[in-house]
Amino acid sequence: MANPYDAAYVQSIQDPNGFWGRIAEECHWTRKWDAVLDDTRKPFYRWFTGGELNTCYNALDLHVEGGRGQQTALIYDSPVTQTIRTFSYAELRDAAARCAGALAAEGVAKGDRVVIYMPMIPEAVIAMLACARLGAVHSVVFGGFAARELAVRINDAKPKLIVSASCGIEVARVIPYKPLLDDAIAMADFKPQRCIVVQRPMQTAEMTPGRDLDWSEAMAKARAHDCVPVAATDPLYILYTSGTTGIPKGVVRDNGGHVVALKYTMKAIYNVDAGDVFWAASDVGWVVGHSYIVYAPLFKGCTSILYEGKPVGTPDAGAFWRVISQHKVKSLFTAPTAFRAIKREDPNAEKMKHYDLSGFKALFLAGERLDPDTLRWAQNSLKVPVIDHWWQTETGWAIAANCLGLHRFPVKEGSPTKPAPGWNLAVLGPDRQPVKPGEIGALVSRLPLPPGTLPTLWNNDDGFIRSYLKDFPGYYQTADAGFIDPEGYVYVMSRTDDIINVAGHRLSTGAMEEILADHADVAECAVLGVEDALKGQVPIGFIVLKAGVARRHEDIVKEVVQMVRERIGPVASFKTATVVKRLPKTRSGKILRGTIQKIADNKEWKMPATIDDPAILDEITEALTTVGYAASRK
Ligand code: COA
Ligand code: AMP
Repeated sequence: MANPYDAAYVQSIQDPNGFWGRIAEECHWTRKWDAVLDDTRKPFYRWFTGGELNTCYNALDLHVEGGRGQQTALIYDSPVTQTIRTFSYAELRDAAARCAGALAAEGVAKGDRVVIYMPMIPEAVIAMLACARLGAVHSVVFGGFAARELAVRINDAKPKLIVSASCGIEVARVIPYKPLLDDAIAMADFKPQRCIVVQRPMQTAEMTPGRDLDWSEAMAKARAHDCVPVAATDPLYILYTSGTTGIPKGVVRDNGGHVVALKYTMKAIYNVDAGDVFWAASDVGWVVGHSYIVYAPLFKGCTSILYEGKPVGTPDAGAFWRVISQHKVKSLFTAPTAFRAIKREDPNAEKMKHYDLSGFKALFLAGERLDPDTLRWAQNSLKVPVIDHWWQTETGWAIAANCLGLHRFPVKEGSPTKPAPGWNLAVLGPDRQPVKPGEIGALVSRLPLPPGTLPTLWNNDDGFIRSYLKDFPGYYQTADAGFIDPEGYVYVMSRTDDIINVAGHRLSTGAMEEILADHADVAECAVLGVEDALKGQVPIGFIVLKAGVARRHEDIVKEVVQMVRERIGPVASFKTATVVKRLPKTRSGKILRGTIQKIADNKEWKMPATIDDPAILDEITEALTTVGYAASRK
């Protein structure tokens, strides 16, 4: 007899209508769907067409009406401000309803976009839910992005209104957000009519008369707004993510499939039930924050934690254990880099001993490759299942996982286990044919993608096809390379594009190259990701100067580093660049990135047969050694 995972998986692939239709019955609909899977406009598949619902209702009102009104919905735990604040489901519903009223009073209605540029404070969650309540489309922009990145998103999303805050707090540093917001609006071609700004006491912001409103004042005079039913296929949010150029992709999430899929994953993947405490230690600016700080735990009736702190330094490497024991967390979801940070400061997990972790049942890691050292350290110290799972901003939930709520498979190091229900994975070779088990190729999923995944890119159907569907017709291209072993375990090895993963944050080296190339003295450049013990990867830049430039190299390097920080933001972690005379290339002019990367990481490498001038690699090795890579890494 098949185990529950096998049974669910097989049905999800063979009978998607039956599988997802049954799960959708557990959500609240104001109008039932006409079709579960609508394939009338291939390759644009839609889920639950004809159905109407409200996402905020499913997250909050449903539970209040079902008797969970007094249960804690959200715990705001902020070691950086020494604050712990809880919201019951009734309180969070009331706050979201009032915020929806405040937005509506400023003219925000169904279909309008609202950009949210905020630190990890409850108002960010309330604003997201308020948009959902109105049927408005939110676009949250991560606080570590610079003004220019925000401006690019404003231009693309064209928000009627922006919700922001006066400042964020990075460990002990106060980071003013409002000047960045003002700069972004000044830079953007599209101008939002209003900004609602949360004034935090650590640093209040100067307001622009006629445009900016104070959050507290707007909330005080607002009237609660009811949930507005929307079509299942209407957009809930846009989340921009790095593409291969400086222009980010606006990943769209719709309302219906999202509620259905995310609610399902809470039990099937994370094995949590209504009433359990679930903690995703991420940021609301990332997809993990959208899906697993805000929406999924609330759809399920869990208590979710909003943590404004770091794994280390707030105040120490015991911070995660403190939160787990204090709030009785059952499952934690974070990125491997957070555990590497803790392991580095507290290698013997001494700090864990001070806390009662008896209620803690599982650790989930995603966002980057889980290295075996970190996996073993977490397993040995926590003594609970440590689950690697693989997903992307585009997918909104796991493509592959060890689905704890269905069946727990033995862990194989380096593998996020098996495809989650709904994911018909394959590994294709350059001839677009499946490769043999164990052979590396492009990881793809046969269409249709399951509910909750991106239906398209914002205002860019062509871009959606170009980026994800064109190279392998009939499949979604994940842009990850990997293999599936004979037992069906998936292994994700590397990206097939120029995306790198820095501390679990997704960044485009192409976007950084565009910035470096803008420097007046730079003739040519390359940025690539090299291994980093803490962040997994960090970017490093190589620049070739224009003929005749006689300035000090250190000055130019400082300037390009500053340019990336100013244009992309501190989150890029672009701190190292080096001037070289030439870049190693193939005879056809392609930069030999893979070879440079291996040299930088001090790994074995072979002289590429196609290199135009082998001597350049000696120069590259020397340059890398000077900045702490290559041979100096021994
Ligand atoms: N607002 C403003 N600045 C921010 C920011 C925010 N929300 N988030 C990060 N930054 C800044 C940091 O302060 C840092 O600035 P610096 O260059 O001046 O030091 C820079 O962006 C890089 O941040 P990060 O890569 O996160 O490095 P870090 O040294 O601050 O922290 C970790 C390292 C490992 C502790 C941290 O990345 C972490 O906790 N990561 C795991 C969890 C996670 O967020 N995963 C993401 C998706 S699941
Ligand atoms: P993001 O869109 O920021 O979530 O980044 C998605 C990318 O992160 C994926 O395409 C992978 O390259 C990488 N990634 C996410 N989870 C994993 C994992 N569990 N193992 C390996 N790589 C992962």
